[in-house]
Amino acid sequence: MDKIKINGGQPLFGTIPISGAKNAALPLLAATLLCPEKIILENVPKLADVHSMQLLLSDMGSLIEQPSADRLVIDNRQIHSYRADYELVRKMRASILVLGPLVARFGEACVSLPGGCAIGTRPVDLHIKGLQALGAEIEVKDGYIYATAKKGLQGTKITLPIVSVGATENIMMAASLANGLTIIENAAREPEIIDLANFLNKMGADVTGAGTSRLRIKGVSSLKGCHYPIMTDRIEAGTYIIAALITGGELTLTNAPTASLDALLTPLTQAGVKIETLPGQISVKPSSRKLLGIDIMTEPYPGFPTDLQAQFMALMTIAEGASMMTETIFENRFMHVPELARMGANITIHGASALIRGVKNLSGAPVMATDLRASVSLVLAGLAASGETIVNRIYHLDRGYENLVEKLTNCGASIERSKN
Ligand code: UD1
Repeated sequence: MDKIKINGGQPLFGTIPISGAKNAALPLLAATLLCPEKIILENVPKLADVHSMQLLLSDMGSLIEQPSADRLVIDNRQIHSYRADYELVRKMRASILVLGPLVARFGEACVSLPGGCAIGTRPVDLHIKGLQALGAEIEVKDGYIYATAKKGLQGTKITLPIVSVGATENIMMAASLANGLTIIENAAREPEIIDLANFLNKMGADVTGAGTSRLRIKGVSSLKGCHYPIMTDRIEAGTYIIAALITGGELTLTNAPTASLDALLTPLTQAGVKIETLPGQISVKPSSRKLLGIDIMTEPYPGFPTDLQAQFMALMTIAEGASMMTETIFENRFMHVPELARMGANITIHGASALIRGVKNLSGAPVMATDLRASVSLVLAGLAASGETIVNRIYHLDRGYENLVEKLTNCGASIERSKN
């Protein structure tokens, strides 16, 4: 199994181009199932999860061409299967996002239940209830969700009891081909929801309110082909901002989604970090002062993203003084804590909060993580640590970081990938 070896302790200097967003690419790929005409997606990141979604679509009869590295041409005229098997859904939970589009366009879908995952139980009850409210008949048996809507879906008002990105996306996609008006209250407001709404509208849908907690979707009878560039990845950008800070370096990020990173940039600038933003560009400048501990609580957007919690915690391990990080989205998202502790971090967990007491330095160690963001937090810690860090099980990183090793090497990191 592949590993990453890092010789830490060197500041990073240079420029890193930010790739297309994984969490936008996956729902957009699922949304192409709504449309019987050719769709061209640009700025598609080269990631294992995107590849898994392509495999899932191909399995259903989608014809996908890749004329250049970051462009996909998708032709969903001849979809012949409405099924997502356990083997694929198990590997990538976002496969559940094909449920809404399939039942909306074909009146039929069979999608495996994803099951739990490393960061929590992660149920899909809100996806199911939302589609039921739109008139789909749903039966869950033998580990699969069977959904039918032979007479089509019917617009309605749906109030989500908790904010869910995936449930908002599934309902929004299905409602775009339903009869009449759907209103989603307490909808997720993530930038990826706005990207999906923009994409649906480019295909001829009528979605308004994206970015607010009230989405309005007027159903249309069919959608048409289009050409669409996927937004850039705010979590990848946030990760490299932290890479600059944790190594005491100076990085400029290009194609960066500046507006959507306020929850990270505001506390950092308040703590004295020098960050310059221009449209599409973020520069992190070195500082002579040591970063002070910052308290953070994860929340749905526009709050601090849970997908940056592990990386920020790695940064806090070497900050001056103590910080408290509270995770409110997923119940088991501290898998990186024992691994960071193996590198010398001082962290105590109290329920959903972690108290981090800053230490002078981290030291390299062999480490391993069980999810994507936890894995990259160990890479960040390894970049800052003295000596050698070996990060195992790096297939998690391939799911969400395009050319991670190359991007860091170009900025002076001593990092390499090896087969064993
Ligand atoms: C998406 C992101 C993921 C991010 C998360 C929260 C993608 C592909 N993934 O995941 O990277 O960490 O948003 O920002 O975009 N919940 C239920 N029932 C449901 C659905 C969700 O109880 O039917 C709960 C979850 O267990 C969790 C919370 O709602 O506690 C939020 O999850 P949700 O926003 O749905 O996350 P995902 O869409 O799976």
